[in-house]
Formats: sequence, structure tokens, C-alpha cells
Amino acid sequence: MAFPKINPTSTPAWKELTQHYQETKENHLREQFNADLDRGTSFSLLWNDFLLDYSKNRITKKTLSLLGELAEQVGLEEARVGYFKGELINKTEGRAVLHTALRAKKDDEIFLEGKNIVEEVYAVRKKIKHFSEAIISGDRKGYTGKAFTDVVNIGIGGSDLGPVMVTEALKFYKNHLRTHFVSNVDGDHVNEVLKELDPETTLFVIVSKSFTTQETLSNAMTIKKWFLKKALKKDVADHFVAVSTNEEKIEKFGIAQENVFPMWDWVGGRFSLWSAVGLSIALSVGYENFEDLLLGANEMDSHFKETPFLENMPVIMALLSVWYNNFYGAETEALIPYTQYLHRFPAYLQQGMMESNGKSMDRGGNRVQHQTGTIVWGEPGTNSQHAFFQLIHQGTKLIPTDFIGFKKSLYGNMDHHNKLMANFFAQTEALMNGKTAEEVKKELENQQLSEEELRSLLPFKIFEGNKPTNTLLIEKLTPKSLGALIALYEHKIFVQGVIWNIFSYDQWGVELGKQLAKNILLDIEDSNIGDHDSSTLSLLQFFKKQAKF
Ligand code: F6P
Repeated sequence: MAFPKINPTSTPAWKELTQHYQETKENHLREQFNADLDRGTSFSLLWNDFLLDYSKNRITKKTLSLLGELAEQVGLEEARVGYFKGELINKTEGRAVLHTALRAKKDDEIFLEGKNIVEEVYAVRKKIKHFSEAIISGDRKGYTGKAFTDVVNIGIGGSDLGPVMVTEALKFYKNHLRTHFVSNVDGDHVNEVLKELDPETTLFVIVSKSFTTQETLSNAMTIKKWFLKKALKKDVADHFVAVSTNEEKIEKFGIAQENVFPMWDWVGGRFSLWSAVGLSIALSVGYENFEDLLLGANEMDSHFKETPFLENMPVIMALLSVWYNNFYGAETEALIPYTQYLHRFPAYLQQGMMESNGKSMDRGGNRVQHQTGTIVWGEPGTNSQHAFFQLIHQGTKLIPTDFIGFKKSLYGNMDHHNKLMANFFAQTEALMNGKTAEEVKKELENQQLSEEELRSLLPFKIFEGNKPTNTLLIEKLTPKSLGALIALYEHKIFVQGVIWNIFSYDQWGVELGKQLAKNILLDIEDSNIGDHDSSTLSLLQFFKKQAKF
């Protein structure tokens, strides 16, 4: 039952990596490629229809083997076994972390407190299947006998980001149902969504693991009131379903037992799209596609579970990220999908990575002395090339970047796809090679500039290069490949948490703001404002129109 508690910086591998960093930090990728003509293939991994080329990273074979040693010395092997077996690795909440069980094979057995949870998972899956099929086919109708045309997912954080990201990513596979997402407690958000809807033909899916989240409950109440302006109380049962672990609170809200899709406390919100939290996904693209998504994730699980570290895609990606975060001092990572369908993927992974690994206490309860979670950000290419790429190419910060692209376009428009992918390949090549003073000089000489003009322009046109990138090239964006892609990053998060010796599956850091907001709401709604620092006090007074600035 041991989950290792090893300070990574105390391992021999860490010490060697520190020295190795000093020895190699000035290496330039351009020279490494010139010196080793096979570098592109020797630092690549092929798994199913995924190719990961990580050769454009500031590493040598020795870097990789030292990083592999680090993984061993922090007990990744033991941790990986415990993760899949359902050990209570979410220690501060006393829970197992078993989102992998949600996509297990039907005859797999995973026991938690003596119960095979795979059976429960499949029972809920069956319910998702029947329900989604009845809604899509129109067999299950709204309170006036009309078929449903719209589905609204009401949830926030993990109860929103996964479903919204996947439904956007799989738009190509969508059926006739229009899907909407209400997440923010900002009343304008819910009103903008409601104005497009007809209560007679809209299904509401309230998703909240805890069923206590202020945003979700406020939105659900507002929507229920709106619904009851036309419908009767008894009609709520036909139009509202809930996904939660909190049966008592759901009942109070007035949702009938048969309309409740259970989930479990061994599934973290940010890893829950595979459960009934993904109901809006199944409704949007059909149950079979939802199953394919789970299948893809399951295949990635097997790869991660069974493959030696240095041939293991999530492990390699995690190790490279640790290399930059802890040795190069890189603070952020960018993620650039070259498909518009994945436009919410960086936002989704912001919760996945930053809520999981944004921790400063180690597993022994002491403050860590090393850097932990990276900041992740990004937008699709090629749009991002015209926005923030300048900083990645010529700024002062090192930003390791993942490029995710697909060999095939879904509509088969090859003119566009070839242009898109030309940019995809060009960017990583440019980031790696850069452009030397010599090359810039030659280029400027051809433009017939005066000697003076040439000299003054030259420094601005130099690209240092040596900017690290991973290229992930996947056959086609399908439900299955998307499932595998998401699982790949989930396991990267796990590996990094193990290495950094932190607990990746709690999120105590979000609590304080929630508590204070409750008190401040009383200050806003009451005539008196309680005790606050002078800044918060003046702001509240100004908000309530009592302050003079
Ligand atoms: O505030 C953070 C958080 O707890 C996330 O971890 C979670 O995904 C989100 O809120 C929503 O929680 P719930 O599903 O319980 O409403």
C-alpha cells in the first residue's frame, strides 16, 4: 500500500541531471541534428496511429537515460501499480483515483472495498446508452410530446470543461441535437443560453459531483424557474437529469431517482468525462462514439501501464517537461493543436495540469524545495502563429511547446490541410533551427540594402532557435484517437506528480476563495460591510456606491 514519498532532489539521478544540465545547456539543436543524421527517428516513438517525435528537444541520449533513472529512483514503477490497482493515492481526501476503471474492459476486475467497481461502471454505461439513444431517436419526449432538440449541460470545472472540450472536438461526428453549456455564475451567461431555447424541447443535464457548487446550483435554480414559467412542477422529471455522487441533495432539488446518473468519489472532477459526466457527449455524438472515446483511452492506459519508461509516451512527455521545468527553469508550456476542433483542449488541460500539480506541499507535508506544476496555455495553430508565436521565437523565455497535428482532415479539403500542415512542420523546424547572423546577412544582401541599413537591421532578424518542441502526429481526429490523446496527458500529469512528490488528486487551493466569497456575498446583500483589509473594503464600498475615490 506504499505510495513512494521520495524527494526527487535527493536522488542520485537528480544530482547527475543537475551536472548534466550544466554540461549540455549550451548545446544547439541545429548542431545536434547535423552531428546525428538519424536523430529524428532515434528520438521518436510510434504507438498505434500516434507518432511522437521528441527529437527537437534539448536532450542527448544521456539526458534521457538519466531522466529514466530519475523515474525509477522516485518509485514510479510502484506508484504506477498502485494507481491502476486503486490504492488510496488521493491521500488527503482518503480516496482512490480510478478514472482508468471508467474505461476498463467489461471483464476486467478492479476491487475497491471488496466490490468489483467495473460492474458498477458498466451498469451506469448501460443507463447512459439507453437514455442517450431514447433522446436522440426522439422516443423519449418532452412534456408536450415533442422530441428534444437541445441539451444544456449545467456544470463547472471538471463538470463542464471535459464535456465542452470533447463535444467541440467531435463536432464532425455530431447528431441533430444542439448542445449548450452553462457554467459561469455570471447571470448573463445563463440568460444568453436560455434566450435561444424552448422549454418544451430542451433537456437539462445538471452535472455536479458534489451537488454543492454555488455556480451550478444557482444556474440550475435559475433554469428551473425559467422552465416553470411555462411548464408544471411534474414536468421537471421529463426535462431535468442529474449526474452526481450526492443523492440527498439531488432529491431535494426535485430530480426523480430514475433521472439520476451516479458517479463515484474515486473519480476526480477533472478526470470525469469518462463517467456519466460525459452524458452530454453521448447525447451529442451518440453512445457508440462515446464508447470509442473510452476505448481509445483504455488503449492508452494499457500502453502506459505495460510499457518500459523510455518507450512509454506519457512517461517520455512527463520527463521532458520535468527537464525543462526543474533544470532549465521554464515556467510555462504551450500546447498548440493544429485543428480548430481542439480549440478547448488547452483550457481543458489547464484544469487537468494546474489543479492537479499546482501544489507546494510534498507528500510528507513539508514545503517542496523544487518547482512543481507548470503553467500550460495555448490556442490552435495557425491562429496562434499570428498572435503569440513572436514571443516563443524571439522572446527571452523558454517555452517548450507541444504541436499536435493530424495526417487527415475530416472533410478531406486537401488544399487547406496541406497548408495547415506545412505550417505545423515549418514552425517546429524554425523553432529548432532559428536563423543565424550569416543567414540573415545573406538574405539582406539579396535585398540590395545599404551597408548601414544592413548592419542596423541584422540583429532584429536573427532567430536564436534551439526552442524545444514535441510533435505529436496522429492519423485522424476520431473519438478513439481523442480518447487516447486525453489519456496520454492524464498519465503525463500522474507521472509528474509522482516525480515532484506531491498529491495530484486533491485541490484544497480552490477552497479559500469559495469560503471568502460566501462571506462577501453577505456583505454585498446586507446593508453593512464586515471587517476587511482597506483595499477589499474600499472596493466593496465602491461596488455598493458608498465610496469616494
Ligand atoms: O472548484 C474546483 C472544483 O472542485 C473542481 O475540482 C471541480 O471539477 C469543480 O469544482 C466542480 O465541482 P462539482 O462537480 O462538485 O460541482
